[in-house]
Parts: sequence; C-alpha cells; structure tokens
Amino acid sequence: MYDNNVAGKIAQQYRQKPLTDFVSIKSDTPLDSLNLNWRERDLPEFERTKHVHRLHPYLGKFVPQLVEIFLRKYKPTLVYDPFVGSGTTLVEANALGIDSIGTDISIFNVLLSKVKTADYNITILEKEIYEILNRLNTYKSKFSKDEKVNRLFSTDNEYIQKWFAPNTQRELLCYLRLIKDYTYQDLLRVVLSRSARSARLVTHFDLDFPKEPQTKPYQCFKHGRTCQPVAEAYKFLSRYTIDTLNRIKEFSKIKTSAEVVVYHADSREVKLNQCRAHLPHSPPYIGLIDYHDQHKYAYELLKLQNNEICEIGPAKNGQSQQAKSEYIKGIKEVMIHTRDYMAKDALAIIVVNDKYRLYNPTDVGFMEIGRVERHVNRRTGRREGAFYESILIWKKI
Ligand SMILES: C[S@@+](CC[C@H](N)C(=O)[O-])C[C@H]1O[C@@H](n2cnc3c(N)ncnc32)[C@H](O)[C@@H]1O
Repeated sequence: MYDNNVAGKIAQQYRQKPLTDFVSIKSDTPLDSLNLNWRERDLPEFERTKHVHRLHPYLGKFVPQLVEIFLRKYKPTLVYDPFVGSGTTLVEANALGIDSIGTDISIFNVLLSKVKTADYNITILEKEIYEILNRLNTYKSKFSKDEKVNRLFSTDNEYIQKWFAPNTQRELLCYLRLIKDYTYQDLLRVVLSRSARSARLVTHFDLDFPKEPQTKPYQCFKHGRTCQPVAEAYKFLSRYTIDTLNRIKEFSKIKTSAEVVVYHADSREVKLNQCRAHLPHSPPYIGLIDYHDQHKYAYELLKLQNNEICEIGPAKNGQSQQAKSEYIKGIKEVMIHTRDYMAKDALAIIVVNDKYRLYNPTDVGFMEIGRVERHVNRRTGRREGAFYESILIWKKI
C-alpha cells in the first residue's frame, strides 16, 4: 500500500504544474524534480495517443511521454522491453534514434508493434489502402442479392457468428480475403481488427468487457438516447483507413533509421543476443487484464495462435494469494532471464502499480537507485478510484 508520506507528496505535486517540456530532460535532471502527475489538461488524450500510438485500442499501455522522459534522461543506445504490448517503448525509442528490441507472448501485440514501427512507402500504402476499400465497396453491392457471393464471405466460426451481424460478417470476411493482394498486409490486418472491434454487437458504452451481444436497440449511457446495434463494418473500415494513413504519415516525419526487432515469445525464455540494453517496461498488472482476450475478435478473425496460458498475471487468475505467488514467480523469472543479457550497470526502468509491494530488486540481482511515484489520472472507461504508478529504477548488480 502507498504510505501517507508518498500520497502526501503526490497530492502536493498534483496542485503544481507537472512536467510537459519533455525535450528539456537531460542526464542531470534530478529524479525528484520530475512531477509526472498529469491531469487531462496537462497531457490531453490526443497527445498521449499521438501518431501511431493510437493505431488500435489497447488496454494497459503506458503513457508514451513517460518512456520519452526516461529515455532522454538515461540515453541508452539500445533498449529491450520484455512486455512490449502495443509497442510504446519501441516507437518512442525509434523516434529518439535508439535501437530497440521487444518481446510479447501475444501474437496480436507483436503484429501491432511491428506495424507501428515498420517502414512504409507512403505512395504505395495510400494507393493500396484505398483500393482495398473500393474493392470491398464493389462487392458490398452484391451482398444479399447474390447467394454465391454471400457463401464466399461466410464462416462457421462461432465467435464471429455470435458477435457480428450477418452483413458485418460478410464485409469483414470480404476485406480479409482481399488482403493477400497487397504489400502491407499486416497494416491492413490492423485496420480490419480495429474495425471489427467497433463493429461488434456491443453497446457504445462497453467496448472493453462486453458480456453478451447486443442485438436489439438499447438505452445508451454514453449518448443519452436509444442506440441501434451495429449492422455494418464498412463505415469503420472507411474511417480507420483515413485515420491509419494519417497516423503513419505523421510518424514517418519523425521516424529514424534506428533498428526495431520484435519477438513473439515468452520473456522467461526468449533467446536474445547479448544486449547492452536498458529496460523501460511495464509488466502485466496482476489480475486486471487478459491480454489475449481483449483482442479476441482479432484472434478469431485472423486465426491467430493463442498463447494465453503463458500470460503472467492474467485477469482470469484473479488476485488471490496463489495468483500473487504465481505472478511474482513469473516476473522474477523474466527479470533473472533478462538480466543475463544485460551489460554491467545497465538499468531496468519498471512502471508498475505496486500496491501489493511485489517488486523486490535484490531477489533478482538488481539494486534500486531511484523511484518516482505518480498519480494516474484515469478518465477513460467507467473504472474508478485513485490509481498510483511507481517508476522503479534498478541497476544490475
Ligand atoms: C502492461 S502490458 C505492456 C504494455 C506496454 N508497455 C504498452 O505500452 O503497450 C503487459 C504485456 O505483457 C505481455 N505478457 C504477459 N505475459 C508474458 C510473457 N510470459 N512473456 C511475454 N510477454 C508477456 C502481455 O501480453 C502484455 O502485452
């Protein structure tokens, strides 16, 4: 639990203006001068989700500016993120010209991280991303009229049948079939997945954890009126085509030639080359999020391999004593395994909600050399309660 002194200091900082001039961070910027207690007006959502950071929703990513601050302060030449998630560390490292490596157990997260950090020929991308949409539009006019076309874009996948309206299914499956004709197939898969997420039979106010499909009109808490269940994917495909292209273009203006490598593996055993890396990362939270399940639509639609049994600290295991012991064991194994690849004196920078005090550096061959606490301003979703984050700075011993 957070003691009163820490909570008091955070509360005091919370009344002052937090750091927003990220470029001003230098190696000698003292850790205690870092006020990272951003409120919405200090670091609005559009900045936290700038360029490729919002190519696809992802529950549990950290604020990119947090990574930027510590990369600017410690100036590594290579970073490694053993829990790469949606690729925040890799994107920020690349923007600063730092080579990076990431690992994740979820193949969808690996796909997303690769798509965010890939190089694109924008002219080809622009041509293809609109062409696939236009081809879908042509097919769309034949849906329901032509039984042969309908059969072509049907599936016996139970998840897809349950969570998408019949017309939505056809649109998604048609787009999916067309992807093979293009150069940037992974990027199109991300556009498709994002559209599928929005086109599920879910209410507008519960996109994160829907329990049952919404097949009838409903009173919408988000819009304060009666809303209709979603009956198409095309409007989302069209919207996210434009948005994706803009985001890729924006990032390409600051993208550097720094190398990015992403592994789909378990971080307890992934084989890395000797890396002098620093490790800015945020481990899975204990018992809060299922990292595969949050993108279930993508796994089903793209037929992706599911490795959820290897997730550390999944929500479905809860926060019981047994879940905590398994979580600590998993995190320790990752740190010990990764430590072997780190150079002497390399740093691990770990962003955690450590309310159970589960992180002990000496158990895994590190010493704590600094710690910054911050209050997380949670404005999204309907989750409530104060939420603190600690940034632990550990040195390899
Ligand atoms: C809190 S998220 C990381 C989010 C990331 N920092 C970002 O900004 O997107 C934790 C990640 O750890 C991954 N993970 C869980 N168990 C793992 C394991 N055994 N090996 C590798 N990755 C794992 C999850 O799939 C998830 O993507």
